[in-house]
Amino acid sequence: MRVLGIETSCDETGVAVYDTSEGLLAHHLFSQIALHAEYGGVVPELASRDHVRKLLPLIRQTLAESGLSVDDLDGVAYTAGPGLVGALLVGAGVGRALAWSLDVPAVGVHHMEGHLLAPLLEDDPRGRPEPPFVALLVSGGHSQLIHVKKIGEYELLGETIDDAAGEAFDKTAKLMGLAYPGGPLLAKLALEGEPGRFKFTRPMVDRPGLEFSFSGLKTQVLLAWQKSDQTAQTQRDIARGFEDAVVDTLAIKCERALDQVDCDTLVVAGGVGANVNLRERLKAMTAKRGGDVYFPRPAFCTDNGAMIAYAGALRLLAGEREGEAIKVQPRWDMETLPRVDR
Ligand code: KG4
Ligand code: ZN
Repeated sequence: MRVLGIETSCDETGVAVYDTSEGLLAHHLFSQIALHAEYGGVVPELASRDHVRKLLPLIRQTLAESGLSVDDLDGVAYTAGPGLVGALLVGAGVGRALAWSLDVPAVGVHHMEGHLLAPLLEDDPRGRPEPPFVALLVSGGHSQLIHVKKIGEYELLGETIDDAAGEAFDKTAKLMGLAYPGGPLLAKLALEGEPGRFKFTRPMVDRPGLEFSFSGLKTQVLLAWQKSDQTAQTQRDIARGFEDAVVDTLAIKCERALDQVDCDTLVVAGGVGANVNLRERLKAMTAKRGGDVYFPRPAFCTDNGAMIAYAGALRLLAGEREGEAIKVQPRWDMETLPRVDR
């Protein structure tokens, strides 16, 4: 089954074709970073309009690269939520209409389920992680620990009570004067920073539970930055101190979640999953307990069409079908998703 995947939930237009027997055939991404940079954050209306401009050319380009025409498609998957309503409507409108015109089934995909399943797109010599496992989803909008009992059967173990991990990276970068979007830039600086020169508290690790809180950290960074000499090296050292605090906190909570559900397999997804320090730390933590950790390639940690095509293909194969109406859910609880029986 060949499935076209469309991602337009925020500031990236992503398109991919996934074949259930041959794997990923092609994928393309158009990032709107330059468009939003002068505003220091995503402007929803500009995002929607740019998806309108970019989506059809990107679909044509992706199909051409796969050597396919629209008639070769057996299904269409698009992100139906959570995300910005106008942006979601562009992908859902195009995806649903295309499926209707081709008389093939369509399915609306949960963006975070797309992230969660992205590691399964990889050819890992150890094979694909099979549920049950614990998933750490760390993106710009979410920080969640999820017990994946089966594909489609998700239990939320804990989440952030304020900022998401990616949001904390972005806000912290901004307050040290880094350009938008600051998260990846801050991570790059941290690689050259001296560990231990700045030590920030690890939020909420001293109390039980699997909740996160990252908003206090940025205040600590702001105070340290304001009091400092503000040289380039100090910026790198503060970035390192901040990143170590986030990484430590995430690793401690991941270990706690694995203990809680008595499992040794961790799957990490979402933009912050591209973080080198986090990847190393979680590899060490899981190896120590004789377990495994799986990540998507860095390009599939952040938003992309491939994860939507893949998650959609699994659901279409299981017989899920969207009605003819164009429906999106800007807020959408993953625990309400139907189980996928394979
Ligand atoms: O998953 P994603 O592309 O979009 C959402 O669905 O939110 O995640 C984007 C987030 C941004 O906050 C960005 O700063 C963060 O992921 N991010 C990183 C890194 N690369 C992206 N954070 C830390 N280290 C990175 N290398
Ligand atoms: Zn995302």
